[in-house]
Amino acid sequence: MAFNWLKKFREKKKIPKKRSQAEDKGLLKLFNESYWIKFAVVSLSTLFLSFFLSGVIYGPSVGKELSSDVFILFLVLLAIQGILQIYLWLFEKDIFANNKKQLLLSVIILLTVFLQSVILHVPFFTKHAFTQFIFMAPFGLMLMTLFFPIRMSFIFAFVFGVYMGLMKRMIPEAVFIVPVISAFSSIFMKEVRNRYQITKAGIYTSAVTLMLILIVHSMTGNFNLNDLKDYTFGALVTGLVSILLILTLPYILELIFREVTNVSLLELSDLNHKLLKELVMIAPGTYHHSITVANIAEAAAEAIGARSLLVRVMGYYHDIGKLIKTEYFSENEAGGKSMHLKLSASMSSLIIISHVKNGVDIARRYKLPRAIIDGIKEHHGTSLVYYFYKRAQDEVGEKEVVKEENFRYPGPKPQSKETAILSVADTIEAASRSLAEPSPSRIKGLVGELLKDKYISGELDECNLTFRELKIIKEVVIRLLTARFHTRPVYPEKTNA
Ligand SMILES: [Fe+2]
Ligand SMILES: [Fe+2]
Repeated sequence: MAFNWLKKFREKKKIPKKRSQAEDKGLLKLFNESYWIKFAVVSLSTLFLSFFLSGVIYGPSVGKELSSDVFILFLVLLAIQGILQIYLWLFEKDIFANNKKQLLLSVIILLTVFLQSVILHVPFFTKHAFTQFIFMAPFGLMLMTLFFPIRMSFIFAFVFGVYMGLMKRMIPEAVFIVPVISAFSSIFMKEVRNRYQITKAGIYTSAVTLMLILIVHSMTGNFNLNDLKDYTFGALVTGLVSILLILTLPYILELIFREVTNVSLLELSDLNHKLLKELVMIAPGTYHHSITVANIAEAAAEAIGARSLLVRVMGYYHDIGKLIKTEYFSENEAGGKSMHLKLSASMSSLIIISHVKNGVDIARRYKLPRAIIDGIKEHHGTSLVYYFYKRAQDEVGEKEVVKEENFRYPGPKPQSKETAILSVADTIEAASRSLAEPSPSRIKGLVGELLKDKYISGELDECNLTFRELKIIKEVVIRLLTARFHTRPVYPEKTNA
């Protein structure tokens, strides 16, 4: 019963073509890569930011007469934006190049500043003294940690500090409290994988906020025992509001921006997921290959600071297309005759290549996030199915030249560090299985050779992996493969002696 859809899928041999063209290329690509759009996103978000902050600093009358102070504020904010863009360009190329991610980042910043200004200036809040001790920056940074690498949060912790300083000219808060609690809150969120951990991160944030308020107020001589209730209440609300917003907002942003957070990824990393259960039943060889690829890729991603949980989950699902024509893939042959013996090389290659397209269709049917679908699409890039290409060339002999492009995967090449790591781990894991005697030096040689091939063939041209990162990935993969092959117990052979 569970595999009814799969049977229908096989019978029809036709995959429903319900997909948005703009999703793959065209408009979305144009939006993501256009420098004009990038310029518009950055300048508009700066403009909105300066409206929020100037409204807060100079009062609501600012809209009527544009003072030079507002213009100066706009220039200051533009300078901060410029510094942030240079930072992204230098250290977070994936995010700099992707306008959708830039827009998401701006939305998070604007939302945080907007909420903080509401708390500081709307009479409903200001009539209570404790509200001046409610900080929204921890929420902003927690949200950012769910979508972006944690190292970015530390830079933005200081940026929120500056905004806070501009908002209320609260120097100790801007310089000390906001950056420090924000940095701590993102650290608490780093390993968040479920709702309980989000609640825990919120409680820790409250505790750190209270501690810092007490320290800063004691150091600046502003400490007043009568205000202790307000300090405590403000700190508690800071954590509580963060928990409530983090429990709801990411899902909405995930839907709008089609970016996946760790919380959703965790649900997909459950090996009891229906699709993974089908994989282990129908294609056990592919399932075990996928688990190993996931482990290798996750460790490599962690070593270079890429999104390791995303890479792990991509590893689990990257070959689900092999649920169709399972028996044509070598890892599922189970010692029997190869199904390809009866087929021409070009037919075999077509079947092998089709697992990418089938995988994308199955993933869409199961509503897997776009990031996982990217992993499926990009894990082979535009590489050549060399074995069948060579066989096709042998079949026709020297009189004809076999077209290489007919034996290539459709691509695209890996577009992010995460899909590049997946692609590297996948190629190396598959090749390592054919090593006759996997000694450490052979493993090292094989990994070096495969990485060199991938690099020279241009498969890693579009993913922003640096040489240094490739070297780190290489070392991690060698270490894991060596451990894998050398922890297998060697059983003594039965002899007749
Ligand atoms: Fe594959
Ligand atoms: Fe694979």
